[in-house]
Amino acid sequence: MNQSWSSGYVADVPYPEGFYVQQSPARMVLTCLLLGVVADLPSPTDDACYIELGCGVGFGALMTAASNPGWKVVAIDYNPAHIAVGVGLARAARLANIEFLEADVSQLSPSALPTADFVTLHGLWSWVAPEVRAGIVRLLVAKTRPGAIVHISYNSLPAWQGAIGMQRLIHEAGMRVPGRSDERIEAGMELARELNGLSAHHLVESKLVRGVLEKREGVATQYLTHEYMNVHWAPEFHADVADALSEAKLDWVGSANPLENFPGLMMTPEQRKVMDRYSDPIMHELIKDICLQRGLRHDIYVRGARRGGIRQREAAISRLTLIPVVCPDELQTTLDLPAGKAEMSEPLKEMMGAALQGPATVGELLARAPGHGSAAELASVMIGSHQCQPSVWPQSGQPEGADRLNRLLGGRVASVADGRGLALACGRLGTGLGVSTLLKFIAGRLLNGESEKDADAWVAALGGDLRPEELGTVRELMHTALERRVPLLRQLQIVPG
Ligand SMILES: C[S@@+](CC[C@H](N)C(=O)[O-])C[C@H]1O[C@@H](n2cnc3c(N)ncnc32)[C@H](O)[C@@H]1O
Repeated sequence: MNQSWSSGYVADVPYPEGFYVQQSPARMVLTCLLLGVVADLPSPTDDACYIELGCGVGFGALMTAASNPGWKVVAIDYNPAHIAVGVGLARAARLANIEFLEADVSQLSPSALPTADFVTLHGLWSWVAPEVRAGIVRLLVAKTRPGAIVHISYNSLPAWQGAIGMQRLIHEAGMRVPGRSDERIEAGMELARELNGLSAHHLVESKLVRGVLEKREGVATQYLTHEYMNVHWAPEFHADVADALSEAKLDWVGSANPLENFPGLMMTPEQRKVMDRYSDPIMHELIKDICLQRGLRHDIYVRGARRGGIRQREAAISRLTLIPVVCPDELQTTLDLPAGKAEMSEPLKEMMGAALQGPATVGELLARAPGHGSAAELASVMIGSHQCQPSVWPQSGQPEGADRLNRLLGGRVASVADGRGLALACGRLGTGLGVSTLLKFIAGRLLNGESEKDADAWVAALGGDLRPEELGTVRELMHTALERRVPLLRQLQIVPG
């Protein structure tokens, strides 16, 4: 049952621990730079402030705090069960620079918060009541400093228009059975699936709806509950969110998913031609959202965006360091994009290959093929295809708090099926690095002073209740992780070298 304090948001089932790279400060800054907006990333030891509204257990906020020991991080959620987990992790890792607040953002007094350089809200805006959205705007008005960067994710229209009926059906049917929200969603989903099988028009028309109803395997019930069992779920058009946030003097900048900022990669030439008849960004985004299947937007806003020219943009991006997060032989030069498969040019391929050889600035990589490609294109392609992450402070050491948090997270893994918070804190990236459960476990062991020689014992520790053939698979995965992923962790100083 939802509690009286929850304003219709699911509060009886916890939200799973998750890491979303779009919430990382470096990625927020990257979006600004790609779109030609001036932005600085404070160093990990500077006195900066990062606030997360609706933080869940605050896994992303913990990553930010551990990776940036000088910053003050404030993580806010009104569900005490979430805050208790976050506080427990922060205390166990002895992170003194993160504060968890159990508070409703619609009622929280701004005086309880510091002024922020970064604010993020992931999975909050389209899932909460109008008065909560008003509370978010009120806090943004009061607590973002001039030049602050805000990340907001939300379900967008028109991508979700065909699913409004599905959500209402799931919610209404769910509320008619007794029990916890995760039991109720089962009932709601069952009815929706039954009607889908009977060719109910609004459950078979939309590809997105069919995807939700058919793809159940591997999607955690906890997650589905938070997606569809909220009373006030309301996807919105980009223009309406931009309008609401303008009250806090926030200017829309671009998408935290780098490739989405390049219409040339996302749209057909004919679609682009129509879009180019307009010069205003609101119309551009509407046409993009009409052309693409973009159901979850990750948008970046700045309080008072200062826009520079292309030369300034190229110079700023050239100074960024690209850090490889895959091995050189995993280089991918053909990208699967909404406008089709995109094969990179030969000079770009060479730069991409060089980027995977080790950390290098975008400028150093561009110098390998002068006159070919732009800094914005190279950075977007490498980061947008998940082959590199950006670093503004590549010389940063690994903070002790990050080691403590990673040791703690690795030490919690008792099974390969443990899907909690899949990331490790990294000072060089100023955020988390997405990792598998197995890699998190290995990092924990290496941070505890063990070595690769102990790998057999690690397999045994993880595979206590597995069948022999499953144990064989874990052994193989362990071998691959040690050979291909651990060197990347060493390069990032996440594990001792
Ligand atoms: C979908 S979860 C996202 C959690 C977290 N941002 C993440 O990405 O892991 C949304 C969170 O918002 C919280 N929430 C909903 N309404 C809230 C309110 N009025 N005030 C504070 N937190 C709220 C919920 O408890 C939940 O933890």
